[in-house]
Amino acid sequence: MKLTLLAGAALVSGIAIAAGPADWRSQSIYFLLTDRFGRADNSTTAECDVTQRNYCGGSWQGVINHLDYIQNMGFTAIWITPVTEQLNQTTGDGTAYHGYWQQDAYAVNPNLGTADDLKALSKAVHDRGMYLMVDVVANHMGYDGAGTDVSYSAFNPFNSQSYFHSYCEITDYNNLTMVQNCWMGDTTVSLPDLDTQSTDVQNMWYSWVGELVSNYSIDGLRLDSVMEIQPDFWPGYNNASGVYCVGEVFDGDPTFTCPYQNYLNGVLNYPMYFPLQRAFQNSSGSISDLYDMINSVKSDCADSTLLGTFVENHDNPRFASYTEDYSLAKNAIAFTILSDGIPIIYAGQEQHYNGGSDPENREATWLSGYNTTAELYQWISKVNQIRNYIIKNTPIYQDNNNLAMSKGSNGTQLLTVLTNLGSSGGSSSITVSGTGYSSGQVLTELISCTNVTVGASGDVSVPMASGGLPSVLYPTSKLGKTGAPC
Ligand SMILES: *[C@@H]1O[C@H](CO)[C@@H](O)[C@H](O)[C@H]1NC(C)=O
Ligand SMILES: *[C@@H]1O[C@H](CO)[C@@H](O)[C@H](O)[C@H]1NC(C)=O
Ligand SMILES: *[C@@H]1O[C@H](CO)[C@@H](O)[C@H](O)[C@H]1NC(C)=O
Ligand SMILES: *[C@@H]1O[C@H](CO)[C@@H](O)[C@H](O)[C@H]1NC(C)=O
Ligand SMILES: *[C@@H]1O[C@H](CO)[C@@H](O)[C@H](O)[C@H]1NC(C)=O
Ligand SMILES: *[C@@H]1O[C@H](CO)[C@@H](O)[C@H](O)[C@H]1NC(C)=O
Ligand SMILES: *[C@@H]1O[C@H](CO)[C@@H](O)[C@H](O)[C@H]1NC(C)=O
Ligand SMILES: *[C@@H]1O[C@H](CO)[C@@H](O)[C@H](O)[C@H]1NC(C)=O
Ligand SMILES: *[C@@H]1O[C@H](CO)[C@@H](O)[C@H](O)[C@H]1NC(C)=O
Repeated sequence: MKLTLLAGAALVSGIAIAAGPADWRSQSIYFLLTDRFGRADNSTTAECDVTQRNYCGGSWQGVINHLDYIQNMGFTAIWITPVTEQLNQTTGDGTAYHGYWQQDAYAVNPNLGTADDLKALSKAVHDRGMYLMVDVVANHMGYDGAGTDVSYSAFNPFNSQSYFHSYCEITDYNNLTMVQNCWMGDTTVSLPDLDTQSTDVQNMWYSWVGELVSNYSIDGLRLDSVMEIQPDFWPGYNNASGVYCVGEVFDGDPTFTCPYQNYLNGVLNYPMYFPLQRAFQNSSGSISDLYDMINSVKSDCADSTLLGTFVENHDNPRFASYTEDYSLAKNAIAFTILSDGIPIIYAGQEQHYNGGSDPENREATWLSGYNTTAELYQWISKVNQIRNYIIKNTPIYQDNNNLAMSKGSNGTQLLTVLTNLGSSGGSSSITVSGTGYSSGQVLTELISCTNVTVGASGDVSVPMASGGLPSVLYPTSKLGKTGAPC
């Protein structure tokens, strides 16, 4: 059975029905590094020295224990780091606590829990009506040693050199051929680069990803290292997953990054990240660069509402490493949550953590004591609440042929009335009550550009044009001059 057929259906008793792009558009995502977010023993004092690049004891059970903390901030989804089994050595670059050095794609990382723990996390998330997004890596495996010394039998299912590109190091990130065919990593930990042009490798990954999503009832995927694979690998992968996929294309140029949306549902909004992070660093930050990028992304990307918007993650210095000013952090967060796209807040951002580059930006969340009165925790809750309220469309009226829906905040709702009477439908008006508008307020019907005055108790007599067309109403006084349809 293809899960995509069921996309959009409700969450039923803890079982996810795979979620497609339309289901994700209205979500708000909390991203956490599983090893660093929560411990099963609920400790808030367990040591975590980020410079050691080692496991600190976070786990899937630890995430389960702290879901209230996440949900009470207004998040509707979590994104967790990769779940697959990793190289287990302590290498010169540390251990694989982050999850990007997999060896066995068919086993889970025992440091984070068991397969049953991961299923329990999925269920706990779904029981709250939330979504689970999992990070997956198709570009490479991980090996403790130089690229010339790899023992390929360490990998499952890619247990032979024939599944890989021959070894060469990426030395020039501007050379896309090299980025796609050579290896990431270094000579301490090499990242054996899968030959994703081979049909065998493609089919192995496509069947794997469908199984992963189904085994753990996953609702969406974050795809690591998207630019490091030739784009035509991705449509089959996205398709086989049956869920919304958002890809990491680590590049700030929208003319480079946006076209990946022709291969995937969405990408992380790196084009916005750079000007966003700079705009709010201080009063000399360029607001015009940010303004211009909003328009560039809208025009270059196929659908800017399916991009992931962020100002922090585990690969870049935290915002507070640039400035400790809380108001600047609040503006950056408000942009993240209220602009187009799906907001992503990185665990610790709500505690104003200020770690610089990797590994400093991977502080344990538990060391904050999960302080829910922290200033940015409260701020994020508030802004998520605004977003969740504004973008939700609520049906408020129905009869045999007409449906009215309201979207937006008190007094400035957009009221949409639809009808199935077809082109032979005659002109009439429908009285919709419970609109939330105040009596005497003037609304404009935005298709015909006619005005309507709200009656007693907020009742609106909505004119329905002959020919069965919908009506769309909005408070006249709130129609701006720029771009207003009337
Ligand atoms: C940890 O917290 C969870 C959720 O509050 C609770 O159910 C569980 O019993 C706690 N576990 C321990 C070991 O304290
Ligand atoms: C890593 O795993 C292998 C195979 O399971 C095992 O033989 C080896 O002892 C482990 N090494 C470490 C450092 O845990
Ligand atoms: C890009 O890298 C490939 C090897 O991966 C090399 O053959 C090619 O010459 C490089 N192109 C440029 C313009 O440097
Ligand atoms: C999914 O579960 C099946 C049945 O237990 C198992 O055979 C398969 O290996 C699993 N696949 C993945 C990717 O976890
Ligand atoms: C996606 O899946 C459908 C149904 O299985 C198939 O017909 C279509 O060719 C697939 N598209 C890609 C790009 O793999
Ligand atoms: C603003 O931040 C930038 C980048 O960190 C810095 O170069 C500049 O000096 C700062 N300007 C002020 C007025 O603080
Ligand atoms: C939590 O944060 C608030 C606001 O910053 C602070 O006043 C309070 O002391 C913190 N509580 C703890 C237990 O650290
Ligand atoms: C909506 O706005 C009206 C007038 O602007 C106010 O009287 C009413 O209390 C508001 N309702 C809510 C739920 O905020
Ligand atoms: C609607 O009302 C506005 C504000 O009172 C007015 O400027 C506009 O001319 C009216 N439009 C029509 C078609 O009456």
